[in-house]
Amino acid sequence: MTDFEFYNPVKVFFGKDQLPKISTQIPAGSKVMFLYGGGSIIKNGVYDRVKAALERFEVTEFGGIEPNPLYETAMKAVEIAKEKNIDFLLAVGGGSVIDATKFIAAAIPYRFGDPWNILAKGMPVAAAVPLGVVLTLPATGSEMNKNAVISRKSTDEKLSFGSPMVFPKFSFLLPDAAGTLPKRQVANGIVDAFVHVTEQYLTYPVNAPIQDRFAEAILITLIEQAPAVYENPADYKAMSNLMWSATMALNGLIQCGVPGDWSVHSIGHELTALHGIDHARTLAIVLPGLWKALLEEKKTKLVQYGERVWNITEGTDDERALKAIDETVAFFESLGVPTRLSAYNVKADTIDKIVSRFEDRKWLELGDRGLTTPEATRKALTLQL
Ligand code: NZQ
Ligand code: ZN
Repeated sequence: MTDFEFYNPVKVFFGKDQLPKISTQIPAGSKVMFLYGGGSIIKNGVYDRVKAALERFEVTEFGGIEPNPLYETAMKAVEIAKEKNIDFLLAVGGGSVIDATKFIAAAIPYRFGDPWNILAKGMPVAAAVPLGVVLTLPATGSEMNKNAVISRKSTDEKLSFGSPMVFPKFSFLLPDAAGTLPKRQVANGIVDAFVHVTEQYLTYPVNAPIQDRFAEAILITLIEQAPAVYENPADYKAMSNLMWSATMALNGLIQCGVPGDWSVHSIGHELTALHGIDHARTLAIVLPGLWKALLEEKKTKLVQYGERVWNITEGTDDERALKAIDETVAFFESLGVPTRLSAYNVKADTIDKIVSRFEDRKWLELGDRGLTTPEATRKALTLQL
């Protein structure tokens, strides 16, 4: 295990009856901006519940944050927030609303030119407006981490940043609200959480058995809960287990002292930027391809994953590693999530474009041990055509 720091200040309120406590968590007298997406919260009643909980505050609403949230939209909120001297942001929705809110929080006090620099140039975030979260979709873990992913329409880019300044002050996790999710979004959430775990687990052994077993526990729980929650998103018990699993998958805990990879995400973001494919669906394509492309280097962990998560105990190491990849593919496909580029009519020219973007950005050695070279990226995607 390597040296690590672990810091997670997010106060979590889990469950259907917690929301009224929100008024006790926002400083009295705050001017609150209430941010949301395309209207799912209006249909499922969360909007009214939040409004009721905020009745003591002066509230400005900002709706219309799109999936894969846009810089262009976020900057409109920044302008309004500055005009109205907003001093607390409340994100209500899924990862897109939360991520946009984190960016807005950092952009409002930003004094070093265009806040896009935070994403494009990795400029540090020196200050941010405090924010809180009401989560209605289990997937990203954004409710309990310091990361955000923002897209820019004018350049077809999708980039991320992370800063301790944008940790939510609190997050209310509402499995009941997630009951109105379409099956497609539930499947996306399961796959996204699953791949968050593998990005931190499926690297190489570093004698970190507790982190390995935390990771395996989350994977096994996702596999076990998936059929019930996919079949019926309103199954409160199964949705609760999915929601907590997704939060635990990316709140920093399983990353302590172990190498991370994240190259599946880096490649996946390009597929979203270029073809608008849902985030999780890009991961389901890239993950099996990259595991096959890096089979030798990741074999030890693939065999461990196969044995502990899929009960694969027979065959040579190569056979066991490949079987573990096949089981993963079958799991994603059982949730209606395709694992081939052809399902989206994406062809070899896109692979060329992604590889040349990585070369232009000097992203020549991504992921664990720098194994995800442009060539490995090409091989991984070509295997998934
Ligand atoms: O916009 P509304 O109307 O609210 O509808 C949303 C949206 O259309 C809908 N929805 C949310 N809750 C609902 C609901 N529909 C019915 N009932 C509910 N209870 O679901 C749709 C998708 O929402 P979105 O927020 O886009 O999904 P998700 O949570 O999967 O977030 C995806 C974004 O997060 C980024 C992704 O790249 C993508 O941009 N990620 C953020 C991460 C982070 N901050 O740590 C890590 C992830 O790897 C990921 O990259
Ligand atoms: Zn993800």
